[in-house]
Amino acid sequence: MGNMRTQLSFAPLSGIEIELLAVLAADTQTSNASDAKPQPVLLTSDATVLTAAKAALASGEFKAGANETLLLHAPAGLAAKRLLLVGLGKQPKVTVHAVRSAAGTAVRFIKPRGIREIVFVLPESDPKILPRAAGVRAAVEGAFVGDFDSDTYRSDRKDQSVESFTLAASAAADKAALEAALAEAIIIGESQNFTRSLVNEPGNKLTPTILGQRAAEMASQVGLGWEVHSTEKLRELKMGAFWSVSQGSAESPALIVLRYEPKGVTNGPVLGLVGKGITFDSGGISIKPSDKMEEMKTDMAGGAAMLGAMRAIALLKPRVRVIAVICAAENMPSGTAQKPGDVQTAMPFSVDKPGKTIEIINTDAEGRLVLADGLTYARQLGATHLIDAATLTGACVVALGHINAGAFSNDDETWAKFDAALSTSGEKFWRLPLGEEYAEMIKSDIGDIKNTGGRWGGAITAAEFLKVFVEDTPWIHLDIAGLAWAEDSKPYIAKGPSGVAVRSILEWVRSY
Ligand code: BES
Ligand code: MN
Ligand code: ZN
Repeated sequence: MGNMRTQLSFAPLSGIEIELLAVLAADTQTSNASDAKPQPVLLTSDATVLTAAKAALASGEFKAGANETLLLHAPAGLAAKRLLLVGLGKQPKVTVHAVRSAAGTAVRFIKPRGIREIVFVLPESDPKILPRAAGVRAAVEGAFVGDFDSDTYRSDRKDQSVESFTLAASAAADKAALEAALAEAIIIGESQNFTRSLVNEPGNKLTPTILGQRAAEMASQVGLGWEVHSTEKLRELKMGAFWSVSQGSAESPALIVLRYEPKGVTNGPVLGLVGKGITFDSGGISIKPSDKMEEMKTDMAGGAAMLGAMRAIALLKPRVRVIAVICAAENMPSGTAQKPGDVQTAMPFSVDKPGKTIEIINTDAEGRLVLADGLTYARQLGATHLIDAATLTGACVVALGHINAGAFSNDDETWAKFDAALSTSGEKFWRLPLGEEYAEMIKSDIGDIKNTGGRWGGAITAAEFLKVFVEDTPWIHLDIAGLAWAEDSKPYIAKGPSGVAVRSILEWVRSY
C-alpha cells in the first residue's frame, strides 16, 4: 500500500502539467425509451476541457455509463498529457457515492498503465445536491480505496501505487472547508485500507497474538489507550464462551481492548465496539468441508473493521467516548478442542450473577461464543451503546447475497442513527428482524441456550444469541459474512478484502 500524496489545486485546468487529467461525465438523457440515445455531459465549465473532449463525446462511443472510461491522448489545448473521461451513469443527481466510485475507477485505470500521478477534476453540479466539501471527501476516499491491491505476498507484485492525487476545484472561496474535507478523507481512506490489509493476512501470518500486536502498534501510533490480554485474563474474567473456542488451538487467544477518551468528556454515552476476531475458522470438531475453507482466514474481518474504525476515531477526534473489544482466537479441531454437547459458562456480568450456560451443538458456530463474552465485557467496562461486527453466518449470505450485509437492532432510535450513517458511508446494510419466536429456537433443554437454532433463519437466531448477552443495552449487530471479501474486482475496487463497515461504524460514532 502506497503513501499517496494528496492535495488540492485551484489552478486553471488548461495549464496543469500532469500525466493525466480525469474529468467526470453524467448521462443526462431523461427518457427511458429503448431508442433514447445517451447524452453524456462533462461536469466542468472549463472551456478548454470541453473543447478537448468535444469530438469524443460527439462520436457516441462514450456513454457516460457508471464507471465507464475513455482515454484521450495529447488533448488539444491542455498541458496535461492525457484526458480521461469517467462516467457517473444515467442519473439526474450526482451523488457522493457516484463520485467516490468514479475516483476509484480513475485510480484503478492508471495503476496498471504505469501512470503515477493524476489530477481529478471536482465535478461541478448543484451544490445543494453535492456540496463541494462532500465531493472532495468522496473523491479522496474513493482514490485511497481504489489504490489498494492485495498483492503483498506476490513476488511479481508491481508496486503500482499512485504517487500523487490532486483534486482540482474551480474557485478557492471555500478553501478551508475543502482542505478539512481532504484531511478527513485521507484518514478515512487509510483506515479502511488498514482494515483491508489485516483481512488480507493469512492465518499463519496473523495469529490472535499477532493481531493483538498489530492493534497495539496502531493504537500507540494514533494515541489510543490499549491493552492486549491472553488466556490468564480470560480465566480471571470467567470468559468461558470465548475460551471454549480457543481451547482447541495451539495459538493463545487475544482479548484486545482499545480506549478512546477525549479530554473533558466525562459524561454522555460510552460507545462499545465489539468485533469477531477469528483468525482462522476451521469449524473445530464440527469441521468445515475443505472446499473454500481458505476463505476462513477472513473470519476476523469484524474485529479488523473495529480496528480501522478506532484508528479513524482517534484521528478525527469526535466528542464521545469509545471502547473497542476484539475477541481474537483460532477455531481448530484437536484433542483439546471443545466438543458438540459440551456445556460452557459465559462470562458473568457481575460477580453476584452467574454466567449463562451454553450447550454447544455445533463448534462451527464459534463467532457468537467469542462475541457473547466480548459484549458482556464491553458492558462491564461501561459501554452504554453497543455495536458489533462479525462474519457470523453463511445464512446471512444466503439471504442477502454479496450485495447487502445484514443488520439487526433491539432499539429503533439507535438503528435510526446507524441508518443515517449509511447515507453518508454509502455502504449497503439491510435490517433483518428479531423476535421472541426466533429466541425460542435457541432455548436448550440442557443449559440456558444452545449455540445454533438449526438451519432456518440462521442469521436471525445467531443475532438472537448475541441479544441474550446484550440484555437491555441499545445495540446494533452487523453480519458482514457476505461482504468482507469480494470474489470479483470492480472498476473502482480490487477483489479481495473490502473493509466493509469501517465507514458506517465511524459515521455512527460521529453522530453521538
Ligand atoms: N465464519 C462462519 C460464517 C461465514 C460463512 C463467514 C461464510 C463467511 C463466509 C461462521 O463461524 C460459521 O461457521 N457459521 C456457521 C453457523 C452454523 C454452524 C450454525 C454457518 O453459517 O454455517
Ligand atoms: Mn464457524
Ligand atoms: Zn466463523
